[in-house]
Amino acid sequence: MDNLFWFMYDVSHPRNDAIIQSGTMEFKILGDFMDKLSLAFEFRHACKRFDESKKINHADFETILEAGRLSPSSFGLEPWHFVVVDNADIKAELRAACYDQEQVTSCSHFVILLYRKANNFTLQSPYLRQAVARTVPDQNDETAIDIASQDFLNYITHGLGEGLSTNHWSEMQGYIPAANMMTTAAYHGIDSCALGGFQYPKVLSILEKHIPSFSSEVFGVGLCLAFGYRIDEQPPHIRWSLQDVTTYLS
Ligand SMILES: Cc1cc2nc3c(=O)[nH]c(=O)nc-3n(C[C@H](O)[C@H](O)[C@H](O)COP(=O)(O)O)c2cc1C
Repeated sequence: MDNLFWFMYDVSHPRNDAIIQSGTMEFKILGDFMDKLSLAFEFRHACKRFDESKKINHADFETILEAGRLSPSSFGLEPWHFVVVDNADIKAELRAACYDQEQVTSCSHFVILLYRKANNFTLQSPYLRQAVARTVPDQNDETAIDIASQDFLNYITHGLGEGLSTNHWSEMQGYIPAANMMTTAAYHGIDSCALGGFQYPKVLSILEKHIPSFSSEVFGVGLCLAFGYRIDEQPPHIRWSLQDVTTYLS
């Protein structure tokens, strides 16, 4: 496909055919010319400024969260939690903690993606035992839970890449729901921006202030995501070619 073309959803009919625009020309294309999922990948960009007058409706936002919830994770341990902020005052506090990035206050919904810290993953930790219990035939069989938990702990002890810790392992898991949420948003004509640019201690103190049960002993902050509707045109994607980033061993 010619690079000069750019793609967009007809946001008023996000489930219908796509529109391709090139200069003053506009082509309507049928869904099976380029499937809707591929179009979503084209549509998604790191949105720097959202239209503050547009809010994501509850059902659409739950669809985005569901994509996060259903994401795969190592050993199925789902070591994440999603904090959703749609309150303007709290978003303003968060903006100050995110190097004053405009996305934080102009977005409709801001998600703080938490990861579970290493102390959730010891043989006796309630979180690990409850998560593992879901996978054994008898949820009261403590021996089976011990064995399955130990299987995971052996992986953590011997299977992680060089220099990686349990906290790294846990934080990495969160990038999978993050990506799935952004793609799902794009599929529904909703924009997003991942934000790794935040001051960790400031975000923690905002969480502690607004969520009395929050404990930085239990959770760390992995990544933030802003969702809303774009106000500016999307710049072209800058990417290496498929050839540059791929090696086949056939
Ligand atoms: C982990 C991660 C952290 C990011 N942090 C920020 C950020 O703090 N602020 C921002 O504007 N964009 C941020 N981005 C967006 C990237 O800059 C953007 O995805 C990249 O430049 C490619 O542009 P595109 O997504 O529009 O194709 C982040 C992306 C990722 C994956």
